[in-house]
Amino acid sequence: IASPIKDVDDEIQQLLQTLPKEEGLISGSGMSLYLYQGFWRSARYLKPAISFQTHFQAFDSDVMVATFPKCGTTWLKALTFSILYRSQFARDVHPLLNFTPHQLVRFMEFDVYLNNPCPDLDNIFCVYKPRLFATHLPHASLPTSIKNSKCKIVYICRNPMDMFVSLWNFTGKLRDKTQDPPLSLDEAFDKFYRGVYSAGPFFEHVLGYWKASQENPNKILFLKYEDLKEDISSQLKHLAIFLGVPFTEDEQKHGVVEEIANICSLKELKEVEVNKKGFHVTGIPHTDFFRKGEVGDWSNYLTPSMVERLDKLIHEKLDNSGLTF
Ligand code: A3P
Repeated sequence: IASPIKDVDDEIQQLLQTLPKEEGLISGSGMSLYLYQGFWRSARYLKPAISFQTHFQAFDSDVMVATFPKCGTTWLKALTFSILYRSQFARDVHPLLNFTPHQLVRFMEFDVYLNNPCPDLDNIFCVYKPRLFATHLPHASLPTSIKNSKCKIVYICRNPMDMFVSLWNFTGKLRDKTQDPPLSLDEAFDKFYRGVYSAGPFFEHVLGYWKASQENPNKILFLKYEDLKEDISSQLKHLAIFLGVPFTEDEQKHGVVEEIANICSLKELKEVEVNKKGFHVTGIPHTDFFRKGEVGDWSNYLTPSMVERLDKLIHEKLDNSGLTF
């Protein structure tokens, strides 16, 4: 009799044979992409994603950070953690000084469920309350209990041109480490344009959360990277209200909002020792999550014809949605 885990593995193997397959921006064993529920996912992370979908039971008090990769996940994790739990640690011993944002707010499908289809969630989420965790899963693929409960979702997206440039730089470093030949910007752009990269396509992911947030704004807060860059204080106040922990007058007077913005800034996080060394459980060096953090960096990379094609695609995908970049 096969063990339960072996059964799951066999089921996944069978499932993979039925799914469209392509190579994304990263290669290597287990990294080929499969189109599952309308989105590309590597074989390695398909099983944990399914475990998350089927095993996880949300609480009404839960908070989930949902993002598309390279849209500001690391930043939003740091900010949400700092706002939500600010009364649970002393101001001068902020956990971000000793842990990376990804260790404090763990990904479900890339971490919590990575090697365990039934993790002990009580134990994993025993330190801070309410539970706070993260995902790159699209809205349609979320565990039912997340959608049906009062669990709050904070989503962040970003101008797709900057997101693509960020992704190309990020995956370029990963290819370097695995001694894969570099992928030219042209080749990467072609895959991006067709939506073939981990968690892609971008537009469908963003629109899934955008529409859900329009229908239920008390459940899903939809943020943009560019808005946070432009006016972090008012975005943080807004986020705190959404999370049910608004900044008091006294906190505002004592600069707590600015303090959080500062400790979570790219400049500060880059200098924290733990973010300069070591690896995320996925094998990605912590340092690779921090690069330039600029709005409009795409103009240093994309050719006029790439910009023209992407502009057209953005219009095609987003016209009539009310969402603009
Ligand atoms: P760039 O590659 O454009 O610099 P994610 O966290 O979703 O992987 O997104 C990574 C992008 O967010 C990278 O963008 C990274 O530099 C930027 N980033 C990481 N931490 C940040 C922070 N604290 N503030 C602003 N941007 C941040």
